[in-house]
Amino acid sequence: MILKRKAFYTGTEEIMEIRQATVEDVEGVVALLQANHADNLTEEEKKNGFVTTKMTNEQMEALIEQENGITIAVKDGRVVAFAMAGSWQFWSEWPLFQKMIELLPEFEYNGVVPDMENSYQYGPICVDRSVRGTGVFHDVFMESLRSMKDRYPMMITFINQVNPLSYAAHTRKVRMDEVGTFDFNGNHYWWMACPTDMEC
Ligand SMILES: CC(C)(COP(=O)(O)OP(=O)(O)OC[C@H]1O[C@@H](n2cnc3c(N)ncnc32)[C@H](O)[C@@H]1OP(=O)(O)O)[C@@H](O)C(=O)NCCC(=O)NCCS
Repeated sequence: MILKRKAFYTGTEEIMEIRQATVEDVEGVVALLQANHADNLTEEEKKNGFVTTKMTNEQMEALIEQENGITIAVKDGRVVAFAMAGSWQFWSEWPLFQKMIELLPEFEYNGVVPDMENSYQYGPICVDRSVRGTGVFHDVFMESLRSMKDRYPMMITFINQVNPLSYAAHTRKVRMDEVGTFDFNGNHYWWMACPTDMEC
């Protein structure tokens, strides 16, 4: 999908491409992930959102090749946003996702008990600071959702309760529902879900 939009701050027209990533895009995705990783941010910077998931380049390539699981926005040849999505089988290497897999039966949503077949895990998502607040978050989120719709009816994610910006974006810019809360490793999380045929 090629988007033409008025840039929020300058009012000039900008062209952005939103599409599924290929392995050639890994370098750009890694750069954006690193720039938003909690390990690389000060406490003050973390107020603008942060991610905690660590991934090797090999894991990223596997997510792309096995699951078609990374949606990106590219502007002037640079990856300015990404959203990841993958099966629970894929994420099961990470301890936090092992915990979420264990908890799946406890978070019924719209009358359906999620499991590893009827749901998948979305996230992390990052938007480069230069294009935040312009609607790119919404467009990349929705394109990621669309890309998984034929495979799963339900999307699930977690949001760290010390990331209120991310909660605001996921509940106000797109309409994810807070289904409950859980704790892991001393952190408090919201459990979020939405149907993959959601429109907003
Ligand atoms: C989270 C992220 C993807 C959202 O993209 P974005 O372009 O900043 O989001 P938007 O501007 O479309 O929407 C954010 C909303 O949160 C609001 N907001 C900003 N800071 C906030 C805060 N501290 N508390 C509550 N709401 C806040 C904004 O005002 C905006 O809502 P509004 O337009 O109604 O005022 C982006 O900020 C980002 O990449 N952050 C770093 C990585 C991250 O946190 N990823 C999510 C991990 S789950």
